[in-house]
Amino acid sequence: MKNILVTGGAGFIGSHALVELVEAGMNPIVYDNLSNSTDKSLKAVESICGVYPKFYQADILDEEALDRVFAENDIDAVIHFAGLKSVGESVAQPVRYYENNVAGTVCLLKAMERAGVRKIVFSSSATVYGSPKSCPISEDFPLSTTNPYGASKLMIESILKDLYHSDHRWGITLLRYFNPIGAHKSGKIGEVPSGIPNNLMPYITNVAVGQLEKLHVFGNDYPTPDGTGVRDYIHVSDLARGHVLALQRLEKYPEELNIYNLGTGTGYSVLDLVNTFMEVTGIDIPYVIDPRRPGDIAECYANPEKAKKELGFEAQFGIKEMCEDAWRWQEGHPHGYED
Ligand code: NAD
Ligand code: WQD
Repeated sequence: MKNILVTGGAGFIGSHALVELVEAGMNPIVYDNLSNSTDKSLKAVESICGVYPKFYQADILDEEALDRVFAENDIDAVIHFAGLKSVGESVAQPVRYYENNVAGTVCLLKAMERAGVRKIVFSSSATVYGSPKSCPISEDFPLSTTNPYGASKLMIESILKDLYHSDHRWGITLLRYFNPIGAHKSGKIGEVPSGIPNNLMPYITNVAVGQLEKLHVFGNDYPTPDGTGVRDYIHVSDLARGHVLALQRLEKYPEELNIYNLGTGTGYSVLDLVNTFMEVTGIDIPYVIDPRRPGDIAECYANPEKAKKELGFEAQFGIKEMCEDAWRWQEGHPHGYED
């Protein structure tokens, strides 16, 4: 595996994957419409690993642009990050989400088929487990969703499974991410939420930097040790490295369909994360307890054994490093890549 097309490569997880791919000796080619990112992230990637990846600013719904990229580059495999990811927005704009995520993926797969490139690693999500019956969650747990974003991920998983069953020349890896947080150790790339963050860690860092007054903790009456929601937070650089391992396995077993959880296997509550953040940064995070957020579940953490056994994947960074690194990025870039 050498030339890797990275859709959504300018985004949060994609930019971290670029660094890991370059460091693993691969050549990432970025395809991104910049609808939720900026190409400044690519400059920052260059400042970390010395390579400014070849970049196509284009949409995955644009089949001509996709054909051009496959014609101009000898692509070995695709990592498909491109997609819209806000749960709340997907409820308000379902058609936009299905078009961008599902129809966009179909366009990508058609272009791959035309080009004879049949290796793909797809960004799925633990959201496809819906409200899990128990934790830790294994890959064979029942799947369900409660919002259009999650449904789009589940539909894409189904399409990819059907595709594999129709033609075993495909090599397909579905990676189900748990909760990626943190930022590259350099503090040069990180997450840039648009507007007020929906997710916990960017909300905490926005409070820490003084842009938001206090954190709203969504419920403290869950059946968890301290009553707040428990999640499997995983450092984004660990998650990114999981993609390199997935490609390496695809190279060894090019005609497999595999599904892996990418998580740490450990759950932390909202208050665990807040307290750890305060401890490692020395910054106070004022918070209030609010009612539960509709659609939230009490706890969600991975059984990470399959990825460990088959990919050799194990998270290296703990919760303290996730907090430290998230803060290093936020402190240095209070307005994202504009700073
Ligand atoms: P992100 O928004 O930072 O990155 C997604 C990138 O895709 C952006 O750069 C955006 O401009 C691009 N994009 C979106 N639609 C496109 C299109 N039609 N054509 C071309 N480019 C397009 O998000 P992220 O957090 O890096 O997430 C990457 C992937 O991982 C997404 O598919 C997301 O659903 C999935 N995922 C994310 C999380 C999370 O918590 N961040 C969890 C599970 C799964
Ligand atoms: C974590 C915990 C909240 C914000 C979401 C998507 C999921 C995936 C990752 C893409 C929960 C609590 C949060 C706040 C809070 N994305 N919280 N105050 O909900 O686990 O997952 O992002 O696939 O699909 O649903 O992550 O960071 O929003 O919430 O108390 O301001 O923090 O209730 O317990 P979530 P999150």
